[in-house]
Amino acid sequence: MRAFRVELGPASHDVYAGAGVLDGLGRLAIDAGLNPGRAAIVTDSTVGPLYGERSTAALRNAGFKPVTITIPAGEASKSLDVLGTIYDRMTEAELDRASAVFALGGGVVGDLAGFAAATYLRGLAIVQVPTTMVAQVDSALGGKTGINHRLAKNLIGAFHQPRLVVADVATLSTLPDREFREGLAEVIKYGAIMDAPMIGDLERDLDAILARKGGVLEAVVARSLEHKAAVVSADEREDGLRKILNFGHTVGHAIEASSGYGRYLHGEAVAIGTVAALQLSVNYAGLSADEASRMKRLLARAGLPTEMPSRWNGAEFVRALRLDKKRRADSVEFVLLDRLGHAFTQKLQFEQIVVSLI
Ligand SMILES: NC(=O)c1ccc[n+]([C@@H]2O[C@H](COP(=O)([O-])OP(=O)(O)OC[C@H]3O[C@@H](n4cnc5c(N)ncnc54)[C@H](O)[C@@H]3O)[C@@H](O)[C@H]2O)c1
Ligand SMILES: [Zn+2]
Repeated sequence: MRAFRVELGPASHDVYAGAGVLDGLGRLAIDAGLNPGRAAIVTDSTVGPLYGERSTAALRNAGFKPVTITIPAGEASKSLDVLGTIYDRMTEAELDRASAVFALGGGVVGDLAGFAAATYLRGLAIVQVPTTMVAQVDSALGGKTGINHRLAKNLIGAFHQPRLVVADVATLSTLPDREFREGLAEVIKYGAIMDAPMIGDLERDLDAILARKGGVLEAVVARSLEHKAAVVSADEREDGLRKILNFGHTVGHAIEASSGYGRYLHGEAVAIGTVAALQLSVNYAGLSADEASRMKRLLARAGLPTEMPSRWNGAEFVRALRLDKKRRADSVEFVLLDRLGHAFTQKLQFEQIVVSLI
């Protein structure tokens, strides 16, 4: 097991990653200062049957009295309707200000349960217990919570830092292959923007990672979370440094938005967006072409797509880029690399982007 602390002033908290840490959930929650007593486990219809009982037992052993609130698996649950049913169940369970909420599942459960906890009784403690690769290396840490609006993803939300993050890498063994691989796009991102040696380690360990060997998963999840923690500690509300976490995401979001949500998983769109950002980095930031192709090979070996949708022309691509939030009229702020492991933001004209990519 690996443990480290995220420094966020009064919201500082511990993170644990390892195989089997789920069984220590209750004890870790007590150590984090949470009150034993009424609690809720929010989970989804896939994860609940797999890991609900073990989580309940771990919490009961430490004196918690958890109720389980199960939502339908899938992105559609990040809705006002499902949020409403969670509030209903929290009320029935008579949760009070001292109660804790445990988010057991992927990013959907984490975002939704986190937002419910942020808002119910003006804020209950939330413990993130991520069970997907995306959630274990990214969404469980950082405090962003929220739901989708009919017109836009993640439109309604709040910052609500977890009191504790417990990432049991053994739960990844039941994750479908495609969902497992998509999380690797975010792992590779951390190497690209802030840890060049990590790229070499991923090249060396990729086969063991894809075989989901516990030790190597623990190392990769912990290292990813430590990188995210470092960025979030420096910039909790995304005013500056935190923007580098959007590496690969500008084009990635454009691909997701224009191909209809669902065709590409988020991490798959980010993989294509990463290749695009690498090309722009070669053209406008001095990244070597060799390093860019090395990264592209790693993404491909991880089973991720690396080619832009072929049907796109320049006009469609610009339209898709503009769909993303915060766009100025003729330019967009891009995260680029001048070398592996070092990222910064730079404004690029749409024209510069199109000539490089289409
Ligand atoms: N808050 C943040 O900072 C942040 C960051 C990235 C993504 N997100 C959000 O996270 C969501 C995506 O998260 P996700 O990719 O984890 O999707 P998800 O939560 O929908 O999980 C994917 C699927 O895997 C299933 N699953 C989860 N764990 C499993 C396990 N161990 N074994 C078998 N099946 C399992 C789920 O039931 C679901 O069907 C999006 O809504 C996105 O907006 C938030
Ligand atoms: Zn992402």
